[in-house]
Amino acid sequence: MEIITAIKGFKDVLPGEAEKWQFVEALAREVFSNFEVHEIRVPIIEKTALFKRGIGETTDIVEKEMYAFTDRDGDVISPRPEATASVLRAYIEHSLHQSEPASKLYTIGPMFRRERPQKGRLRQFHQINVEYLGFSDPYIDAELMLMLMHMLNSLGVPELKLQINSLGCPECRGRFRDEISNFLQGKTGELCGDCLRRMETNPLRVFDCKVEGCREALDGAPTILDFLGEDCRTHFDVVREYLDVFEIPFEVNPRMVRGLDYYVRTAFEVTSESLGSQNAVAGGGRYDGLLKQLGGPDLPGIGFAIGMERLVSLIPVPNAEFAKAVQLFIAPLGETGKVWAFALCNYLRMLGVKADMGEGDKSLKSQMKRANKLNSMYTLIIGDQEIKDGKAQIKNMETGEQEPIGLENFDQLAEDIINKVSGR
Ligand code: HAM
Repeated sequence: MEIITAIKGFKDVLPGEAEKWQFVEALAREVFSNFEVHEIRVPIIEKTALFKRGIGETTDIVEKEMYAFTDRDGDVISPRPEATASVLRAYIEHSLHQSEPASKLYTIGPMFRRERPQKGRLRQFHQINVEYLGFSDPYIDAELMLMLMHMLNSLGVPELKLQINSLGCPECRGRFRDEISNFLQGKTGELCGDCLRRMETNPLRVFDCKVEGCREALDGAPTILDFLGEDCRTHFDVVREYLDVFEIPFEVNPRMVRGLDYYVRTAFEVTSESLGSQNAVAGGGRYDGLLKQLGGPDLPGIGFAIGMERLVSLIPVPNAEFAKAVQLFIAPLGETGKVWAFALCNYLRMLGVKADMGEGDKSLKSQMKRANKLNSMYTLIIGDQEIKDGKAQIKNMETGEQEPIGLENFDQLAEDIINKVSGR
């Protein structure tokens, strides 16, 4: 019969690889705890209007990449293309600012964008997402980037490059918009259809275009950094000074505009050349004004998201090394041995030992093969003879050494095994 496969752009994370994900998530949670960032869990489906208002009507995400459908009761809803809008919605809806005006929040989970699937680009992908709400000081921008780079460096991600830019505030952007529009007027023959449209709707987006002709047309174009007002310039200067405190290497890229419309002032992206053409591992920036735009308090915000699939693909350690080794493998021989092994194996598991057992009707040879495959630290063979004698041999699989272990007192046996596998 024909098999039903997963949808294009949707990927399974199989056992073996999933342990790597768990490792990354555990490290992220630990780092967040040290930086006082708290978890928030938000739904993965929201009203489509939230994303339109949050991300911006003229972004690629809203224009062409969102899944949107009408629910049976007529609501237009979407699986989230990103988490920022949802986190801010929750913050506003539950008036979190009243109890905690300055909140550091994180959320981990799947996002959905109907992009053209290719290496590093999926339709369902996962993000580790951080939002700092209510903080305006530029040291916070540096703190976020420090935390991000610390996590990526701890995981050994190679060839990391942090690029930063300032996108100014609406006033700086207004001045820049006039200038870039004038510049682009002289280049209409060289721009792609999308960019000609962007020229009218959102000229900054032209900098995000990947078409070679458009990139060339932008040679010599004015950049936003030349149009920053006094306050935005000072903010950007201070962010860079704070980044220098920990000597975090960064590059100022005045053409980096990011793909979402809510950013003001600091914007940043982390890339790794090892990723190929989709080389951004993480991206983020400041979005003062977004909370207000979503109907909330007039408080600033800043955040970032790491792409999990891209990050996991960059970690230089093989998948298998993330799995914790089995501490004890029990090989039963015969029916009575099997009942013994069943009781002991599950009892030890409940006491916190990572244990496994073979199938009693399999040969000892094939059971030992299984113990080796599981990379077991110790093995214990239990057959009729061992039960009769009241003792068995426990074997250290690394050294090959065997030692007798008493079977008569079940609790004593469990304690002896726990001491042995934990090296006591
Ligand atoms: P973003 O740059 O759209 O930002 O996404 C962040 C990261 O998610 C990217 O750098 C990339 O690693 C990963 N990513 C994005 N799209 C895909 C895809 N189709 N397939 C695989 N990975 C992908 C945001 O989403 C903002 N909400 C980040 C943020 C939070 N800004 C402020 N707070």
